[in-house]
Amino acid sequence: MKIVSIYPAPFDVQLRHEANSAILYNNKIYAYEEGKITSVKNEPTTLFPEKSLMLGFKELKIIPENVDLWVFPKTQNKLDLKALYLFFSFFLKAYTGNRAKFKNWIKRKVKIVKHHDLHTYSSIGCSGYKNGLYVNFDGGGDFGDTRNCTWGTFNNRKINEYGKSFGLNNIACFHAFITDLCGFKSDNGKVTGIAAYGKINNNLKEKFLKVLKITNNQIIFTRKRYKNSKPNLNNLDVNEYDRYKILNPFPAHSNISKICKGFNLQDIAATAENIIEEFIIKFLKNIKKKFYKRLLRKYSFFWWFVFKCKFKRKN
Ligand SMILES: [Fe+2]
Repeated sequence: MKIVSIYPAPFDVQLRHEANSAILYNNKIYAYEEGKITSVKNEPTTLFPEKSLMLGFKELKIIPENVDLWVFPKTQNKLDLKALYLFFSFFLKAYTGNRAKFKNWIKRKVKIVKHHDLHTYSSIGCSGYKNGLYVNFDGGGDFGDTRNCTWGTFNNRKINEYGKSFGLNNIACFHAFITDLCGFKSDNGKVTGIAAYGKINNNLKEKFLKVLKITNNQIIFTRKRYKNSKPNLNNLDVNEYDRYKILNPFPAHSNISKICKGFNLQDIAATAENIIEEFIIKFLKNIKKKFYKRLLRKYSFFWWFVFKCKFKRKN
């Protein structure tokens, strides 16, 4: 079976993530980011990740017409059938039938999955477990799925969601603010790297604790931005376009930049990483407890029945 996924969905506006293509065929996975080919970080200028997709077809020696299933992330608005027709017939030559039958073809060939469910499936699929509890922490998903934290159970790849939360006041955004402050733009992994060179600073930790708290369904980060940065066209370089240098200069003026003033970057990273680990472990313990309470409630009739039978036998 040949499965292709592209992010974002064609003609959908998603500026927060790297546009990319992935192809699954004969137990091989091909995956590539468009920005790696165009040299435009967070590539926002294409209608769909066309170059990475074509390279994948070439690499795996297949053509778009032979793809069995196309997977797209859920969009904010319903995908426009005319735009899809343009995409599949004119741009890709994946659909060669007549226009009237296109709607049915789409129903069979295109599957839409929510952003956070994709995160969940990618993790449980690689975990080797058949069932268990899952948790997602994310900065805010995308316009098609604005949840920031989801958790629940999975059984044979079927997920059953128990909890979710929305909005940008979340632990992943805390990490994003720290990343921005350290000068790493959206490269969050670099904060984890530099943390190894720093020490946990208890004064700073106390200050972070004032803007973070755990509730039933999420870890809340009270974020504040004081000023929006203005575009800086002096940094424009046509050969090496970088949106962060021009439209989103950093670091932002935020409550995190205020709190971290005077501390060195390695210590800020080490302290932030440490506090995130502690909060996530606490959150995991909370949901584990909640899950067992749910189980007890669900099977309370069964336990009542067992108890009653035993009691009867004794008498
Ligand atoms: Fe995400």
